[in-house]
Amino acid sequence: MDYQQILENIYQSILPYAKEGKQADYIPELAKVNPDQFGMCIHTIYGEICSIEQADTRFSIQSISKVFALAMCLSIKGDDLWKKVGKEPSGTAFNSLIQLEVEKGVPRNPFINAGAIVMSDILLSHLDNPEEDFLAFVRAVSGDDTIDYNEAVATSERENGYLNAAIANLLKYHGTIDNDIESVLHFYFMMCSVEMSCRELSRAFLVFANHRRKFSYAGVELTASQVKRMNAIMQTCGFYDEAGEFAYLVGLPGKSGVGGGIVAIYPLQYSVAVWSPRLNSKGNSVMGIKALELLTTETKESIF
Ligand code: DON
Repeated sequence: MDYQQILENIYQSILPYAKEGKQADYIPELAKVNPDQFGMCIHTIYGEICSIEQADTRFSIQSISKVFALAMCLSIKGDDLWKKVGKEPSGTAFNSLIQLEVEKGVPRNPFINAGAIVMSDILLSHLDNPEEDFLAFVRAVSGDDTIDYNEAVATSERENGYLNAAIANLLKYHGTIDNDIESVLHFYFMMCSVEMSCRELSRAFLVFANHRRKFSYAGVELTASQVKRMNAIMQTCGFYDEAGEFAYLVGLPGKSGVGGGIVAIYPLQYSVAVWSPRLNSKGNSVMGIKALELLTTETKESIF
């Protein structure tokens, strides 16, 4: 498969969508990003790497960080994790409060904000140095020691994070989180502020695509079966209330973030990351979804 040529063709085909949507502005620091950027990179499990445009520009990974948090929480707690957070698609927006209230403080899944705030609480309780340990894991799976938090983005989100504060308060009220709300939110915003490029993200997610290989990075250990289950959760919950549409259009497990990044995996074949800051109304990258739809259509490679 000539992935390089396919990526180049895809880029030409999606140019008409270049001005559709707008970047996230509820985090003021993200509103400063030039919205007219696009990058894409594929890593195959055989070592082939293909990339186009701004594949090396770092951006805010935001909710994509929740996949790394899930790997760490599963490694720490195993199946006990599911006592605190569910594994069903939410069908609601990533920051919705309604379902959390109705379901008495148990988040539907680890990828909505409520679920990721619970995972942040678990990591705070179990890690000696949560911020350092989280970064060490991300650096280990990416093979890059320069990956870092962006404190300005984390602070900007913390100063405007009223909805996440409401979610954390509801979780605390129901006894789902143990640590104090300020510390949990601080860690959550830091984790979301990590910056990576498409090349780094697709390299990192190879560990989920290649689930038969031993998973052991910076003390985080998962069985092949646990990685398989993470991929299932990416498939069903990775795109919030657009998970059905993403499965229909693309047909790969993946995860998006409001920084405009999307990572998807084709198990035992490749991992692909795409980035473009303009988002649709569900908070997912317009050009990113188009590019991935074309990728699986052109290659006829998807899990369906
Ligand atoms: O908590 C938030 O709202 C952001 N830090 C992350 C949201 C996000 O990336 C949703 N994904 N599409």
